[in-house]
Amino acid sequence: MSKKALFVRPTDGDEHQPCLCSALLLKKPRCSPPVCLCLRLSLNDMLGLLRRRSSPSGFSPSSTAKEVTAGIDGSGLVAIVTGASSGIGAETCRVLVLRGVHVIMGVRNPSAAERVREEILEQVPTAKIHIIQLDLSSMSSVRRFVHDFCALDLPLNILINNAGIAFVPFKLSEDGIELHFATNHLGHFLLTDLLLEKIKVTAKESGIEGRVVIVASDSYKHPYREGIRFDKINDKSGYNSILAYGQSKLANILHSNELSSRLKEQDAKVVVNALHPGAVVTNIVRHWGFLNGLLCTLGKFILKGVEQGAATVCYLALHPQVAGVTGNYFVDCNAVELKSHAIDTGLAKRLWDFSVSLLR
Ligand SMILES: NC(=O)c1ccc[n+]([C@@H]2O[C@H](COP(=O)([O-])OP(=O)(O)OC[C@H]3O[C@@H](n4cnc5c(N)ncnc54)[C@H](OP(=O)(O)O)[C@@H]3O)[C@@H](O)[C@H]2O)c1
Repeated sequence: MSKKALFVRPTDGDEHQPCLCSALLLKKPRCSPPVCLCLRLSLNDMLGLLRRRSSPSGFSPSSTAKEVTAGIDGSGLVAIVTGASSGIGAETCRVLVLRGVHVIMGVRNPSAAERVREEILEQVPTAKIHIIQLDLSSMSSVRRFVHDFCALDLPLNILINNAGIAFVPFKLSEDGIELHFATNHLGHFLLTDLLLEKIKVTAKESGIEGRVVIVASDSYKHPYREGIRFDKINDKSGYNSILAYGQSKLANILHSNELSSRLKEQDAKVVVNALHPGAVVTNIVRHWGFLNGLLCTLGKFILKGVEQGAATVCYLALHPQVAGVTGNYFVDCNAVELKSHAIDTGLAKRLWDFSVSLLR
């Protein structure tokens, strides 16, 4: 059996179990985002936590990042984690550091990152952690980050594209790009491109496979009707924050797939995989104020905590089962099938060329 076949598990009838929000959206396209988010959490995500059945990887939705990396020695490896100052990113840093990885936190808010760093250092006093400022919505900030990282003269084994925003009102970035698309996709596209040579060289010289891990979301299932609005990417008219988030997460997966194929063609020892972390209690909708508080309070009973939310990220970054596995989409540490629009190679190539043209 091929490696891919080993890891692919069926989607639990997900095809027939759309998220409740999409059903609602069809009837009521202007429902309020908080209502949408609550309903958007698919039954699969919530009920998954209650299941503890066997899976190809041996891990379940309730497995934590610590559990899925137990016994793995990451010392000698260097990883960059974006959006490392909170939520899934902060937990990912903590667990990578526990496994001996030297972590570079790419963050917009260095003082928040410093607090995370101090907490980690209390647990692991010998931890190697750097903080470098990074605003993914600004292409000049991405370039500065790469310059600052290269000044450290470190190798790079693992790149974790985790930072993200969700369901924000329409806004253009300083480069004039719609904010979800700029932050979630384009900034990471540029970051990956600028670091790729370093990752390839590190893999070649060390003989250790490089890994790019892209934190996407099952929201990729709900982009605009045309998938990516190439002709209207920055248009306020027709803007919908839920679909804009879905579009950016679809872009994450298309980027992962296309990058994986290109690296395979080059015979580079670097694997690329995307993932959905599950429905996780974080501050991702902090701009909702009171409703975010309510969601976090109720979410504690039915959603994943960050310990579980970071599991698939850390699994893809470190686990030996992932060696040689590339171009897949993982949920709960298992590869799952994607919907057809996310494996459309024509769309992925078009997005690649479009992203390059936006960066010129
Ligand atoms: N939570 C879920 O249920 C869920 C579900 C599916 C997918 N995801 C994905 O998981 C990833 C992590 O999200 P989370 O849930 O952990 O939320 P979170 O706690 O809000 O973390 C997001 C991180 O991204 C950072 N970030 C936002 N905009 C940035 C920018 N322009 N430049 C650099 N960093 C930026 C944030 O930094 P600041 O602190 O400075 O804002 C924060 O550290 C996201 O990609 C999200 O789409 C989450």
